[in-house]
Amino acid sequence: MEVKKVAVLGAGLMGHGIAQVAAQVARCEVNLRDISQEFVDNGMRMINNSLQRFLRKQTVTEAEAKEILARLHPMLDLKEAVEDADLIVEAVPEKVEIKRNVFAEVDKFAKPEAIIASNTSSISITEIASATNRPEKVCGMHFFNPPQLMKLIEIIRGAKTSDETVDIIVNVSKKMGKETVIVKKDSPGFIVNRILIPALNEAISLVHEGIADPEDVDKAITLGLNWPMGPIKLLDYLGLDTTLSIAELLRDELAPKYRPCPLLRQMVRAGLHGRKTGKGFYDWTRKE
Ligand code: CAA
Repeated sequence: MEVKKVAVLGAGLMGHGIAQVAAQVARCEVNLRDISQEFVDNGMRMINNSLQRFLRKQTVTEAEAKEILARLHPMLDLKEAVEDADLIVEAVPEKVEIKRNVFAEVDKFAKPEAIIASNTSSISITEIASATNRPEKVCGMHFFNPPQLMKLIEIIRGAKTSDETVDIIVNVSKKMGKETVIVKKDSPGFIVNRILIPALNEAISLVHEGIADPEDVDKAITLGLNWPMGPIKLLDYLGLDTTLSIAELLRDELAPKYRPCPLLRQMVRAGLHGRKTGKGFYDWTRKE
């Protein structure tokens, strides 16, 4: 099956970018659905901002930007969003119950041959898939932030995901201009977060233990390891709350050594979630 029509559920930080890539690079028709007009409008605003950046760089022309926007259909109704989609990509909040409810609903309305993928960064694909009557057509499709620029998609097999489903996701990922890796077993953190989250946790521990200031941790890693962004800045960029919940999952499901640093927990409790709340380790109130 060739994917021509995509539905993206959730217009947040990841969902808006995934919808944009599907419309811009894969040239698919895309329904972008969220639960309130405010969320949908915010997603379209972020897409417009991103397109402005591509326009400034002249990697997209005015005419192409118009075509991309015409392929994007913001909406609130779930049935309308998914009923004629070949691929549904879920990017709703990282709570297992929310995801299972969304998958059960989508399963009712989507075409029998449609593939349902989750952009979860940590939750078990097998558990999400079991909320549907088509677990063989459910797969993990994990994008990286910002989806418009990051080249990788991790494809995660649930216990019952079929080879055909994996092939379809590999092909549509290529159409989106991405490289893929296959995660053969549904394991917490998949590949990237299993490595990244402990690294970010160590970076906060250095600050927590008074060994170095956040700026110096970032300087050390950008200059010493050539990361494009230091780990403390990356934490702010991804969200401290998101990082905490993945660290907790790694600890609960893999080993106690993944225990989150107390400073991470304390900052999340204080509402210092990073870029999305305006403040984390850095002040983001004057940035986009
Ligand atoms: N859309 C379009 N263009 C964008 C953009 C967007 N959303 N965001 C940034 N850009 C462009 C900018 O316009 C800029 O273009 P020019 O170079 O032509 O000026 C360029 O990207 C660089 O942007 P900035 O100058 O604003 O900032 P930067 O140099 O720090 O780059 C970045 C931003 C690309 C995000 C870079 O810092 C980076 O790669 N950081 C690491 C990101 C990363 O590691 N992501 C993975 C996180 S892990 C994850 O997502 C998984 C999970 O489950 C937790």
